[in-house]
Amino acid sequence: MSLMRVITVGLTGAAGIYGGLVLYREYFVVAQYKGDEQLFGKTAIITGANTGIGKEVAHDFARRGARVIMACRDMKKCEETREKLVADSFNTNIVCRECDLASIESIKTFADEINKNEKYVHLLINNAGVMWHPSKLTKDGFEQHLGVNYLGHFLLTNLLMEKLRTCSPSRVVNVTSSMYKRGVIDFDDLNMSKKQFNAKIAYEQAALAIVLATQEFCRQYPGSGVVANCAHPGITRTEIARHTIDKSFISRIIVGPLLKAFMKTPMQGAQAVIQCALDPKLDGQCGKYFSDMKEEPIAPNATDAKEAKRLWLISQRWARLV
Ligand SMILES: NC(=O)c1ccc[n+]([C@@H]2O[C@H](COP(=O)([O-])OP(=O)(O)OC[C@H]3O[C@@H](n4cnc5c(N)ncnc54)[C@H](OP(=O)(O)O)[C@@H]3O)[C@@H](O)[C@H]2O)c1
Repeated sequence: MSLMRVITVGLTGAAGIYGGLVLYREYFVVAQYKGDEQLFGKTAIITGANTGIGKEVAHDFARRGARVIMACRDMKKCEETREKLVADSFNTNIVCRECDLASIESIKTFADEINKNEKYVHLLINNAGVMWHPSKLTKDGFEQHLGVNYLGHFLLTNLLMEKLRTCSPSRVVNVTSSMYKRGVIDFDDLNMSKKQFNAKIAYEQAALAIVLATQEFCRQYPGSGVVANCAHPGITRTEIARHTIDKSFISRIIVGPLLKAFMKTPMQGAQAVIQCALDPKLDGQCGKYFSDMKEEPIAPNATDAKEAKRLWLISQRWARLV
């Protein structure tokens, strides 16, 4: 067989395998939330709604008729996405509000504005996040993963609690990652200032903090009519890897596309979050963890109620709630 023929057969085979993987992911692996709940008269806040999973959740809620408040740090990006969402959903009741989760002041200003001017908040989707971010502190001096993914949302949820309570039954969805299972809460150095910074460990710790605090939320606010659950979207092709992607030629041409075949689209990744927010079967459920739209038992490293309480108390102090 000539070299040319070998190359052609090889490339055709590779393309076939790649296409098969994509089809397999599209049609067999990824479940879609099928519920047809309508959200007319309901208000939803989604953090990090300008791109990725948050944008798809915003799109879905807008199509169901909700008032959608996009809580974003970059108003230009937010406005560009908002215009697209309005055009796609035919829902003009979508607004941008500034909320930088790396700043206590910004979160407080955002929450004050919501508490003062919005009549309702029925759904709070704590979605914004960073992954494997280089070492950098938030405006208030917190390690970026802990500060943005966890502490910022902890503060936001607590500041909006009265509003959520008056709109009950209402739901909080905390988007986290299955990487929480490898996480450890280092109470001696929660902020990673004493040891060598490791972005992967920081991301895992923040993901675990979200799962612990979600369960503690249910113990702190029993009977409030507000429930909080965790959603893991699955490995999804978004901008989350912006700080990690190897930009070499090989990576862009070979590794990247291969990895993409196994990843969900943002719309597919959003399904677990949408289900946690809307599924009537989850009425009254609190402190649960959902992965790929299925409830999973909480991993042993995230079940210690004493640890969760300790984290909650520290978080209250750090977020200047007490
Ligand atoms: N994609 C995955 O495979 C995966 C897997 C597990 C869990 N998750 C979780 O899913 C969530 C959504 O991520 P994604 O995949 O959609 O990533 P993404 O495309 O990078 O979106 C992240 C969003 O968070 C926002 N954000 C980051 N820092 C912020 C800050 N300080 N204040 C306000 N907003 C901020 C970003 O805003 P800018 O555009 O302005 O930066 C963006 O809107 C994250 O919590 C992530 O940990 C994702």
